[in-house]
This record gives sequence, C-alpha cells and structure tokens, in this order.
Amino acid sequence: MTYAVRYQSQGGKTKKVAQILAQTLGVEAYDLDTPITEQVDYLFIGGGLYIKRYNQPIKDYLEGTDLSLIGEIVPFATCNEFSNVIKQIRNFCKNNNIKCANEDLCIKWVLEGMFDIGFKGAEFTPELENRIKEFAGKFLA
Ligand SMILES: Cc1cc2nc3c(=O)[nH]c(=O)nc-3n(C[C@H](O)[C@H](O)[C@H](O)COP(=O)(O)O)c2cc1C
Repeated sequence: MTYAVRYQSQGGKTKKVAQILAQTLGVEAYDLDTPITEQVDYLFIGGGLYIKRYNQPIKDYLEGTDLSLIGEIVPFATCNEFSNVIKQIRNFCKNNNIKCANEDLCIKWVLEGMFDIGFKGAEFTPELENRIKEFAGKFLA
C-alpha cells in the first residue's frame, strides 16, 4: 500500500498529528504546498478550523489535485469544539466521486477558552499519541 499525508496547520497542532500519522505509515507529512504527483492508495488530509465553516486551503488543495492519482481519501481534523473539516472533505469526495474512508480522526482539544483559542491547551499525551497511531495502523496493509 502507498500513502501520502498532507496537512494544513496554522498553530502546529495538526502538523504534529500529521507527523505521527505519517511516521506510523512510514512516509513524510507535508503541508499543502506539496502536490500529489504519484499514485497513492491513501491520501490522509486534514487541518484545523479557523472561524470559517470550512478550511479554504484544503478546499483549494483538493480542487487542484489530480484525483485519478488517489485511491481513497482519509480525513482528519483538529479543532476546539466542532469541526466541519471532516464533513467538508467527505462532501468533496461525494461530489467528486472519490472514495472516502469510513473512519476518520477528529481530535478535539478541551477547554482552550476564548482568549487563547487555538494556541494553548493541546496536550499530546501518550494516550492521544496512541490514538493517532492506532488510527493510522488501521490502514496499514
Ligand atoms: C483564529 C482561530 C479561529 C478558530 N476557530 C475555531 C472554530 O471556529 N471552531 C473550532 O472548533 N476551533 C477553532 N479554532 C481552534 C483550532 O481549529 C484548533 O485549535 C486547531 O487544533 C488548530 O490547529 P493548528 O494548530 O494545526 O492550526 C480556532 C483557532 C484559531 C487560531
């Protein structure tokens, strides 16, 4: 199986999640400046949410990607409370007739508060790291 991991990350948390996913899958995680140029069985793609109802860079990235190179998309997201990013990616897949994994990874940070929104309180506990690794592990052949 072949894998690619792409992330959008303003504050670094989704990047870290992407890196743990990628490490488990034996690949590198790249930001959205890196296009998909080779056939992959699974594209893991995710990002944070920043006030808007969807993640614009992910929208642009998916729209600019040659979907014939991708077997299946695996969505992941981080957010404070409620992320539409998973739903956004699922809708993209549905509208573009591309397979989307049944499972996704949505990580919610608890109690970051309104004042330090997005920048504090996200702890990568061993439990969380295991959860991310276990999620990626489900896609290993
Ligand atoms: C300016 C800003 C706006 C945000 N808006 C939302 C939001 O509308 N809903 C939500 O659940 N989280 C929101 N968050 C929280 C981030 O989505 C969350 O902390 C995410 O993990 C950030 O990922 P990153 O560190 O990879 O950028 C916001 C964060 C920032 C900085």
